[in-house]
Amino acid sequence: MIAFTVNGRKRSFKGPPFKRLLDVLREDFGLTATKEGCGEGECGACTVLLDGKPVTACLVPVCQAQGRKVETAESLGRPGRLNPLQRSFQENAGVQCGFCTPGLLMSASRLKKTDPEAVRVGLAGHLCRCTGYMHIVESVSKAPSPLRERSTAALRGRRALARRKR
Ligand code: FES
Ligand code: FES
Repeated sequence: MIAFTVNGRKRSFKGPPFKRLLDVLREDFGLTATKEGCGEGECGACTVLLDGKPVTACLVPVCQAQGRKVETAESLGRPGRLNPLQRSFQENAGVQCGFCTPGLLMSASRLKKTDPEAVRVGLAGHLCRCTGYMHIVESVSKAPSPLRERSTAALRGRRALARRKR
């Protein structure tokens, strides 16, 4: 059995250890925000955080997550309660079809600097086929900083709410 934390919740997986983390998240845990584009580590659509670092989940066998922390775009906001980074994408036309957006959000949430040049470098490798990259860079640059602290605070707030409801 492979045990790890996903978005602050303990999870276990009892299947093949080399199943892709991407498939475990989507098929076994129902976390479908993480998308599959190329399936070869080239497009960034499947980006999640593993112990706080962006990784392409299509290249990570689930056994590598043993004992570690995985965060997906579901750890950010949700419809009606978007986090500041998601709101900035919405307000600055950084999303069209949205397929690349969850991966971009996860990488962007780890950027320490958000001036346009740092964002361009930090998000290099993420492919988007419909929104102009200019709008994506602008969405991240204009989002309130620091991005990660805000995401983590949102996650903590959500967990506290869930505990109160139990
Ligand atoms: S689907 Fe993983 S990088 Fe493209
Ligand atoms: S918004 Fe459509 S691929 Fe990026």
